[in-house]
Amino acid sequence: MTAQLIDGKEIAQQVRQTVAAEVAARAAQGKARPGLATVLVGDRPDSAAYVAAKQKACQELGMVSYHRPLPADISQEALEAEIRALNADPAVNGILVQLPLPAHLNEERVLALVSIEKDVDGFSPLNIGRLAQKGREPLFVPCTPYGCIYLLEQAGVKIEGANAIVLGRSNIVGMPAALLLIGKNATVTVCHSRTKNLPQVVRQADILIAAIGKAEMVRGNWIKPGAAVIDVGINAIPDSTKKSGHRLVGDVCFEEAREVAGFLTPVPGGVGPMTIAMLMKNTLRAAQIQQG
Ligand code: GUN
Repeated sequence: MTAQLIDGKEIAQQVRQTVAAEVAARAAQGKARPGLATVLVGDRPDSAAYVAAKQKACQELGMVSYHRPLPADISQEALEAEIRALNADPAVNGILVQLPLPAHLNEERVLALVSIEKDVDGFSPLNIGRLAQKGREPLFVPCTPYGCIYLLEQAGVKIEGANAIVLGRSNIVGMPAALLLIGKNATVTVCHSRTKNLPQVVRQADILIAAIGKAEMVRGNWIKPGAAVIDVGINAIPDSTKKSGHRLVGDVCFEEAREVAGFLTPVPGGVGPMTIAMLMKNTLRAAQIQQG
């Protein structure tokens, strides 16, 4: 079998176009353009690059970006004051605190402070709590897991009743992805570094979401023939044929997986572009909730 590749770049582009059209329509009605605040503490190059991409997307979609670069040694109190000011600013519809924060800061307290109506990352305890409970709806769903589910749905993969395996249990991807799949009536198993007989467990998956952060860990013979495989990993591995000296690979061994899976997302060009597209969708939703 050769897997059908799920083109995240194309699907993300469609989401972005829909969001941009709605932003333009709202502006034509005299409504304020949605505003997204990005809070970046310190100068981690990976975080700076992600935040720059989020700011660029805002501009491309007709939204307004409010960037708050803050020093790595900022105090908890000063960071909390920034969040309170953004909560109170009516031009700011969404607030994104780029993670991870430096070790001296209390991430839980910072995320809990973000107003639920502006929590476009879906990381506030209220949004996650609602995601975890039956019959409750979060205002916002975390962007990367939201993108994973959107890709499955766009590819026509049936989630209801499927055996879904989530590899990884991070707050940002694995855990909310598992909660979303439960909400869509999949039978969900969450695997992690201490799971026994991992290849055998993964082989039960009709749907596999790999978000463990280990380059090409999932081999072809771990995959059930015909399974839908969503690869969230973005790992740099050495490659002397590249000018940069490295190339990006996922958590799944792509060449092996494509011979076995029914559906597969490539890296790059799979889940990656979806994270920002879903952030833009969430930011538009935040403006709609706040402005009516
Ligand atoms: N760090 C890695 N991924 C994310 C994300 O989706 N949102 C935020 N805020 N930080 C991240």
